[in-house]
Amino acid sequence: MSHDTATPMRPRRFLPAGPLTGRIRVPGDKSISHRSIMLGALAVGETRVTGLLEGEDVLSTAAAMRAMGATVERVGEGEWRVHGVGVGALLQPGGPLDMGNSGTSTRLLMGLVASHPIQVSFTGDASLSKRPMGRVIDPLSEMGASFEASEGGRLPLIVRGASPAVPITYRLPVASAQVKSAILLAALNTPGETTVIEPVPTRDHSERMLKGFGADLTVNVEADGTRVITIKGEAELKPQVIDVPGDPSSAAFFIVAALLVPGSEVVIENVGLNPTRAGLVEVLRQMGGRIDFLDEREVGGEPVADLRVKHSRLKGVAVDPAIAPAMIDEFPVLFVAAALAEGVTVASGLDELRVKESDRLTAMAVALTLAGAQIEEREDGLVITGTGGAPLPGMAEGARVTTHLDHRIAMSMAVAGLASSSGVGVDDIRPIATSFPNFEDLLASLAG
Ligand code: S3P
Repeated sequence: MSHDTATPMRPRRFLPAGPLTGRIRVPGDKSISHRSIMLGALAVGETRVTGLLEGEDVLSTAAAMRAMGATVERVGEGEWRVHGVGVGALLQPGGPLDMGNSGTSTRLLMGLVASHPIQVSFTGDASLSKRPMGRVIDPLSEMGASFEASEGGRLPLIVRGASPAVPITYRLPVASAQVKSAILLAALNTPGETTVIEPVPTRDHSERMLKGFGADLTVNVEADGTRVITIKGEAELKPQVIDVPGDPSSAAFFIVAALLVPGSEVVIENVGLNPTRAGLVEVLRQMGGRIDFLDEREVGGEPVADLRVKHSRLKGVAVDPAIAPAMIDEFPVLFVAAALAEGVTVASGLDELRVKESDRLTAMAVALTLAGAQIEEREDGLVITGTGGAPLPGMAEGARVTTHLDHRIAMSMAVAGLASSSGVGVDDIRPIATSFPNFEDLLASLAG
């Protein structure tokens, strides 16, 4: 759904909160939800999904797969059924696919289309239309697809799929699970073996799920940690039953809120802890955060636990750049934690944050500064001097930070508001619905 034209902006002020207490369950993992629908749509037969994230981004994926021939139905809360068309049988959609705000939908679907004999036009909102697509256009062009993109390799763009596509061996020039996944999805309908070489590991949901759906996929890890992923094409996918674990990237906002607000103790149930996603918890523990894993178990082939989080005195750290891919979406809220820690936090090697739903380095530096934090913005990161546990000053009535159509900036600054003396105004909370439609309800339930 595009926010820039559909409905008016929704400003909101987030006020300081008393202790946060109680148990919550966050919505399903966004990455796994997208992939459940896409792979279900390529399997022959019925895939059943529970715990699906019903955020706008995932609904964009569902609408796109319907437009290309699959049956994608909601049968209850988070409960969905997908009847796939089979690999190679995606249909030409009747019009452009509107990807709304969703980079994951766009890049992964560009991969799917690239090896089908169809032509698809992709559009998106103002945020998505600024994001670079060259990173997927390059490998998919090598596979034989052709593209007509807007200036700078951006949306709106048209993909003409190749039939047959050509298998490639591709070394990822950026640490990006979306680029990796676009190639693996294109490879499903490509004869022969396609190989993706990943020098820096990124989230591995595509690999796990493709194997789960019966694709012939192998992962070899070399001595230096480089991952070599090979998939055999002209695959036949078998329908699956998938229980989507809770999204660690959504849990992140409540983890940090509970650490920052004095007296808080919160349990967040069913949080996915795939090691390629669990970087934030590791860094917060290094900072002194009290986060316990309860009832560790497996859900939908992914490690999961209930997290118990207690208010903690945090210390600043130098964040190891090597951990960045395992918490790439969590930096905005980590910056909020750092703004209240004791001492200095240095986060570097984060150029990728400049091409997310917004330029998250500048957006967070500007927003946190307005809320009274001490921030130095660098080319590839931020240096944050914390308050030593004191609340942030907050902002005057009527003042608002700019979220740039970025859900994670809105939710991070909501957390900053809870941990402030006078509150934080956010210019527009509509984007929160892209990934976390019940964020405000859960926040209200913990704040009592
Ligand atoms: C995602 C990969 C990451 C992440 C995004 C979801 C995915 O993007 O930021 O929210 O589901 O593959 P990049 O591949 O651009 O790092």
